[in-house]
Parts: sequence; structure tokens; C-alpha cells
Amino acid sequence: MSLALRNVSRTFAGNTAVRNVNLSVQPGEIVGLLGTSGCGKSTILRAISGLDDGYEGEIEINGSTSKGVHDTTGFIFQEPRLLPWLTVLDNVTFGLKGDKATREKRAKEYIANVGLVGNENLYPRQLSGGMAQRVAIARALVTSPEILLLDEPFSALDAFTKMQLQDLLLDIWKAYNSTIVLVTHDIDEATYLCDRILILRGQPGEVDREITLTEQRPRNRGSQELAKCKSDILESLDLNRKN
Ligand SMILES: Nc1ncnc2c1ncn2[C@@H]1O[C@H](COP(=O)(O)OP(=O)(O)OP(=O)(O)O)[C@@H](O)[C@H]1O
Ligand SMILES: [Mg+2]
Repeated sequence: MSLALRNVSRTFAGNTAVRNVNLSVQPGEIVGLLGTSGCGKSTILRAISGLDDGYEGEIEINGSTSKGVHDTTGFIFQEPRLLPWLTVLDNVTFGLKGDKATREKRAKEYIANVGLVGNENLYPRQLSGGMAQRVAIARALVTSPEILLLDEPFSALDAFTKMQLQDLLLDIWKAYNSTIVLVTHDIDEATYLCDRILILRGQPGEVDREITLTEQRPRNRGSQELAKCKSDILESLDLNRKN
């Protein structure tokens, strides 16, 4: 599964949100989009997902540049966006095709993968934030997307749940060899998870810099390479600099 963006720009009512993004993602690669608020990260992700087709430039997924939602793409948002009137099981089963027994069997397998066995019959209001986000992850993965697009998927969670779910994401990535584009403004998350980090800056946002991480996984969150990378990123973001 390959993904390429060529000169992608997006303008809303005369205001350019993001400009000239070029990106080529290899199958199985984890690429991070990192940048301060409003620099166009979600805009890029929505264009890749097909939820927004108003961009200029070209997005190629597996050789196809047709616009619209690709069923090989899964999306995980910042909030779980579960259907409140459906149970955990039904939320995960919802997007699947086929007969009920097969769909439920498959959904249960993914519910197990995210560590929620025994919670299948609970409703979203009965879940903690971390549990709800696990359901959202199971729901995105159950259709076996080859490209997984994540928009700050763990930002609403406490530090411990966040680290657990980051490791869960890596387990899933390893098991399914997914290609991942991860939007985040958490530098530690980006350095822990990504093979490559694109740093976006400015208004309109543009790719300012690209950083490649070579450290083998599993990575040590406290390693010197990650710390060095973090300080590089902080320097290039230069939060006090005017654009
Ligand atoms: N549908 C829209 N209509 C008009 N302007 C929009 C729309 N979507 C995004 N924008 C504008 O595009 C710019 C980039 O927004 P975007 O949501 O991509 O930022 P972001 O980098 O994801 O920020 P954050 O980190 O806060 O989520 C902002 O100036 C925003 O106001
Ligand atoms: Mg955003």
C-alpha cells in the first residue's frame, strides 16, 4: 500500500490553510505530521482520507488518484465518536459487511486485540475515555485498512493510558504491517512511534523540515537518541519565532 501527496494545497474561502505538501509514504512506514495548532495537520489528513476533496494537487493511494473515501483507509479521531445507542460490540461490528455471526466473530477478535474482552455489551456512556478510545481503535482496524490515519488519537487520555495505547498501536502495526500517518502535537509521541516526522510551520502551513528516526523498535522512551531528536524538533519549531 503506497501513499503519495504531490503539491497538495487547501484553500478555504480565499484563505490558504496549507500549501505545497509533498510526501511519499512507503508501505509499513509510520509518518508523523507535527506542528503547532492551526498549521493544517487535520486538513492534510482529511484530504488523504477522502473526507475532503476540495484540495489542489494530487493524492495517490495504491496507484489511484481518484477522490473520495477509500475503503482501504481507516481513520481514528481525537475523540472516539462512538454511536451512543450501540453497544461496544455493535459499534465495532457496524462498518462490516457479511452475515451477523461472521461480523460478530471478527469484531470480537478486535475487541480482544484492544484488551476489552468482557466489555462487549457495555454502552459508550459506561466506558472510561481510554476504553472508548480502544473501541474506536478496534472499529478502525476491524475493516483491515491498509492505511491508518490518526488525528491526535491519544491526546485526550492520561499519560499512562496514552503510553499503553501507543504500544498497542505498535503491536497492531507489527501484526498487520499497516501504513500509518499520525497527526500529533506531542513530540514524545512522535519520536517514540514514527520512522519519519514532518514538521509543519506557518500560516499557511508548509512542511518546514523532515526528521528520520533510525532507532530500532521497541524504543526506549528515555533513550538519548529520542531526547536529542526532541531537542532538535523544539529548536526547529522555535515557538517564540514569528513566522
Ligand atoms: N472547513 C474549514 N473551513 C474553513 N477553514 C478551515 C476549515 N478547516 C480548517 N480550516 C482552517 O485551516 C487552518 C488549519 O486547520 P487545521 O484544522 O488543519 O489545523 P491543525 O493543524 O489540525 O490544528 P490543531 O492542532 O489545532 O488541530 C486553520 O486556520 C483553520 O481555521
Ligand atoms: Mg487538528
